[in-house]
Amino acid sequence: MSMAISFMVNGQARVHHGDPRLSLLDVLRTGLRLTGTKDVCREGFCGACTVMIDGQAVPACLRPVGVLVVAEITTIEGMASPDGLNPVQQAFVDHDVVQCGMCFPGMVISVTDLLNRNPDPTRAQVKAALSGNQCRCTGYERVVDAVMSLTSAGTAADNGAGQP
Ligand code: FES
Ligand code: FES
Repeated sequence: MSMAISFMVNGQARVHHGDPRLSLLDVLRTGLRLTGTKDVCREGFCGACTVMIDGQAVPACLRPVGVLVVAEITTIEGMASPDGLNPVQQAFVDHDVVQCGMCFPGMVISVTDLLNRNPDPTRAQVKAALSGNQCRCTGYERVVDAVMSLTSAGTAADNGAGQP
């Protein structure tokens, strides 16, 4: 079975000519060479393959490319701008939380999705947003600290508000 399926990836028009049952993960990594999206469990469990589809964070391994006609997809390669890193990426760097890095592209996407919907989440909401992203290397608390630094609570702490 072969079809031509058109969609947008990181603002660029792309066409997949081939099997519509292939996963978006395979099309991104093999067809488009966008290997920032990680291939780990392939079962929707680990979150390493999370991308943004029409503004929502979803696992690319569970999406057949055939259902993505005219979808707008953003991968980790599309998160930074020419001016610099996405604020979530920068916070992860600043808090020195990246270890092997397999989970972090998916985490950046999940957290960016959360902050787009709720710019001022609580720690509990950040943890809930990351519940689908498994990390085998690092402690989640520092990841949550990095995200909280982007909220009004984190900004107030940086400015010394609430200090004796
Ligand atoms: S590779 Fe898709 S959720 Fe693990
Ligand atoms: S940093 Fe290695 S899996 Fe998360």
